[in-house]
Amino acid sequence: MGLKEELEAIKQKGISSIAETTDIKNLNDIRVKLLGKKGPITQSLRGIAKLSVEERPVVGSFANKIRDELATAISEKQAKLEAEKLNRKLAEETIDVTLPGNQVPAGHPHIIQETIDEIESIFMGMGYQVLTGPEVEEEYYNFEMMNLPKNHPARDMQDTFYITKEILMRTHTSPMQARTLEKHDFSKGPLKMISPGVVFRRDTDDPTHSHQFHQVEGIVIDKHITMADLKGTLEVMTHKLFGDKFKVRLRPSYFPFTEPSVEADITCMNCNGKGCDVCKGSGWIEVLGAGMVHPNVLKMAGVDAEEYGGFAFGVGPDRFAMLKYGVNDIRDFYLNDLRFLKQFD
Ligand code: PHE
Repeated sequence: MGLKEELEAIKQKGISSIAETTDIKNLNDIRVKLLGKKGPITQSLRGIAKLSVEERPVVGSFANKIRDELATAISEKQAKLEAEKLNRKLAEETIDVTLPGNQVPAGHPHIIQETIDEIESIFMGMGYQVLTGPEVEEEYYNFEMMNLPKNHPARDMQDTFYITKEILMRTHTSPMQARTLEKHDFSKGPLKMISPGVVFRRDTDDPTHSHQFHQVEGIVIDKHITMADLKGTLEVMTHKLFGDKFKVRLRPSYFPFTEPSVEADITCMNCNGKGCDVCKGSGWIEVLGAGMVHPNVLKMAGVDAEEYGGFAFGVGPDRFAMLKYGVNDIRDFYLNDLRFLKQFD
């Protein structure tokens, strides 16, 4: 066999082994074997010395041509194998974005918290600041500063959990009136504040009483605030919470820290004011205590009671949530029974 034929055979063998391989690593081995220094082309070119001077360049360039062809075949195959590999990878890793995702169980705010949030946003819309205070409170703020001196009979109105003689679980959010009044700088403008939170009383738990419940305290102090401002404010809250057809009624009452004091009723949402079991036939539901802040409360907090005055109120979001969602046992709010809580998803 002449040298040219030998080279032609090397090429054919190379081409078919390149065609056969399906593996990039194997293709690389083929490249080294065929085109390397110890490869068949280099080997066979050793025989070139035996050729005539005329034949040498012809066979030499033929060898180069074969080397080029093989190199081209290898790089084409390499590109093809790489493309196939990429396509396989893409196919394997395809994500079907239309498949339903894994359901992650999500919680939701407690309906009392939701009610408080609603009340907060209503009052923030009217320019009130929202502040929270300590649940473990000083007797001084809970009673003294709220115009309930020691031995005041009205202290019995609020059966108290005492921690020490001076420290107690707050029985209402009203101490936040005193705490904010003390700090407020009236030269910078009026005080408009609400304060939501938990309060505690030594009540025996039953469907309408819980030893722990919520209040949202509110206070507005400025010059020239009247009881009409109080009523208008409570009406805005009621209309936004329940709807425009709900009315607010004020009845005279007594609290040591307000004078005059009122209790506010709103139209019974169970019977729309006609009278039913829920409102005991009256058509009205009592939802809060309120009044004009007693001058003593202002004075004790260092506010000039001649110049400044205003109203305060304490609403019960538990009561609102019971009415709104038709819950007839306040204890359900505090038992954390998921069967109860999940109804309000
Ligand atoms: N603190 C009173 C209570 O707990 C409610 C109230 C607040 C009354 C503010 C008047 C003014 O019953």
